[in-house]
Amino acid sequence: MAAVATKIKKIGIIGSGHIGGNLGLLLGKAGYEVFYSSRHPEKLKGLATATGTKARAGSVPEAIEFADVVILSVPLKAIPELDENTKNALKGKIVIDTSNPYPERDGEIASQALKEPGGMGVFVSKLLPGARIVRAFNTVYFEDLKKRVNSNGEKIGIPIAGDDEEGVNAAVELVQHAGLDPVVVGGLNKSKAFDVGTTVYATSASAQEIRQKLNLK
Ligand SMILES: NC(=O)c1ccc[n+]([C@@H]2O[C@H](COP(=O)([O-])OP(=O)(O)OC[C@H]3O[C@@H](n4cnc5c(N)ncnc54)[C@H](OP(=O)(O)O)[C@@H]3O)[C@@H](O)[C@H]2O)c1
Repeated sequence: MAAVATKIKKIGIIGSGHIGGNLGLLLGKAGYEVFYSSRHPEKLKGLATATGTKARAGSVPEAIEFADVVILSVPLKAIPELDENTKNALKGKIVIDTSNPYPERDGEIASQALKEPGGMGVFVSKLLPGARIVRAFNTVYFEDLKKRVNSNGEKIGIPIAGDDEEGVNAAVELVQHAGLDPVVVGGLNKSKAFDVGTTVYATSASAQEIRQKLNLK
């Protein structure tokens, strides 16, 4: 993977589990500076060490302060529970959200999200007003991030949706540098096309297959 050539250098990750952690490893390998965070950053030191010399771990506010781009990868129910300082700090930031609504895990908020006509992108943007929400990485199973990315097989396609052009471009860049294949689907309300339960969700399909299934050019 070529060295990072754009102005995005610093990635702050809120929620450094299966998805946040594996994305951090891939982006660290691609040359980005990765800052992992969660409620228990002391548990993330090993992950930071595995990511490389430019990676570190700390609190959620520190990750946001550090970041050119934030990746938000927490259970949906955790988003409204973020404190007001955190929500304020996210205003104006590009926030790539990976969350999916699962009522059995997230409770009532997931049921609400599933009823949102504009899909998860619109729902999350209402939870975090002022943040420049982009949807990406919600369709890919974490085991595939671990095992299939940068292998010899066909690249996994990643649908992307957002209203913020710079944010969408940032997501495209991160998807490519992580070793995946971006498919820009449209504005934030188009994220519904790749929400949980859709034909492209959790299939790890290629970009071409995603375009076909979603009738994109
Ligand atoms: N697993 C998958 O294959 C997959 C695929 C695509 C999308 N997703 C979606 O992506 C999101 C993350 O999934 P995951 O599987 O990576 O979850 P996970 O492995 O359970 O990791 C969640 C991370 O979020 C942190 N966290 C939880 N509550 C938090 C809070 N209030 N503030 C800050 N950090 C918090 C957790 O650490 P602490 O508990 O230490 O805070 C942990 O680092 C979910 O919405 C999921 O539906 C998952």
